[in-house]
Amino acid sequence: MLSISWQMMLLALLIIPLSLFGVVFLMKNSQKYFLSQQTSLGLLNGHIEEMYGAHEIVTAFNGQQKSVDQFETYNDQLYRSAWKSQFLSGLMQPLTMMVGNLGYVGVSILGGYLVLHQVIAIGDIQSFITYTRSFTQPINQIAQSMNMLQSTMAAAERVFGFLNEAEVLPDTSDPVPVSFEGKSLIQGQVAFENVRFGYTPDKTVIRDFSMFVKPGQKIAIVGPTGAGKTTIVKLLMRFYELNGGAIYIDGHDTRTFTRKDLRSLVGMVLQDAWLFEGTIRDNLKFGNPDASEAQMVKAAQMAHVDHFIETLDHGYDTVLGESSSNVSQGQRQLLTIARAFLSDPKILILDEATSSVDTRTEVLIQKGMDALMEGRTSFVIAHRLSTIRNADAILVMNEGDIVEIGNHDALMKRDGFYTKLYNAQFSGEEE
Ligand SMILES: Nc1ncnc2c1ncn2[C@@H]1O[C@H](COP(=O)(O)OP(=O)(O)OP(=O)(O)O)[C@@H](O)[C@H]1O
Ligand SMILES: [Mg+2]
Repeated sequence: MLSISWQMMLLALLIIPLSLFGVVFLMKNSQKYFLSQQTSLGLLNGHIEEMYGAHEIVTAFNGQQKSVDQFETYNDQLYRSAWKSQFLSGLMQPLTMMVGNLGYVGVSILGGYLVLHQVIAIGDIQSFITYTRSFTQPINQIAQSMNMLQSTMAAAERVFGFLNEAEVLPDTSDPVPVSFEGKSLIQGQVAFENVRFGYTPDKTVIRDFSMFVKPGQKIAIVGPTGAGKTTIVKLLMRFYELNGGAIYIDGHDTRTFTRKDLRSLVGMVLQDAWLFEGTIRDNLKFGNPDASEAQMVKAAQMAHVDHFIETLDHGYDTVLGESSSNVSQGQRQLLTIARAFLSDPKILILDEATSSVDTRTEVLIQKGMDALMEGRTSFVIAHRLSTIRNADAILVMNEGDIVEIGNHDALMKRDGFYTKLYNAQFSGEEE
């Protein structure tokens, strides 16, 4: 282009800043719509997922219309922002093409003038225009892919927002070992020392909790709903960091173990029985993948689910569906109990483990559980106080504090909070 005419080249070069100016202007104005498009897309998908997952609840409370209305609102938001962002970024290509075409016009006029003055030949204009075309083509291509780039940028912003969340405290660099050459080094002694904790800074759930548990003891934690029983066991597993005090296992602060080791010591059956999508076998062997087939069946027998599993068409290979809707609540609990049996932990936590199981099965499992708790430190949370009468110590909690501690007989003699709880449960039955 320079060898044909420098004046014409200067003119052709003018296309770049002009196109760039237009592109930047449009980008600045459309990026906010790309952002809100991505946000409303997230809201819409979240809404759909929640409504599908909670379909039974939505139907039971006649919430269909409300859910549809909410969907409409989100969908409308998405429509508006997507419309604007697509429109603005769609303008980009025509704009750069127009600037490019204006360039051709200028080049042609200037070329005509130069031909008239016999500076260049007429064929030079033809070749110059061809060069200009290949010169502006990349600019057009960039403009074309700009809307993709912009929505990627908007999406990336959300991803980085997530990645920038505060990390959990890293594990110590010098952790205390829990086993040596396959043998566990932990006895299972647990001590809580002035533990203070709140899920949010403004509300303390556990105020000042201290307790010493000898290896192999069975500790029952009782108390009204919301007293902080589940919180205590979550803290033992270090799902949350303490606000004050410390928890020791065999005299080592739980923060001096790696989280993985700490959790390998503890087997838990939680209030909300949790199973994942997969076969029953995978679910049972989750905590102990090396367990043999015989061990697995033994664990299932102890939890009294083996009979149920065998009646299924595919036995242990039965696939549990999404949110395990193809097994009953009680069966789900029994499966999680079998899983805890199989993982063979040092410390056992049973949080309302049999709350959804019928009383006859509960009595049957109780025997299995007693066998399992033999020689292990165990924490049992139960609302049915008859199941924890034989505990070594019963911890009565109320509003995050221990209000009473002792074994069943001692607590009954005190005639305090525990006696009230106990009598409240049994007075109805006696009548
Ligand atoms: N993830 C959480 N975020 C904020 N607050 C929470 C959270 N989990 C529990 N809480 C609050 O902490 C308190 C203690 O809850 P916790 O689950 O320990 O009770 P609980 O004694 O196990 O009760 P329940 O007998 O019903 O199982 C409650 O007031 C509850 O509202
Ligand atoms: Mg609880």
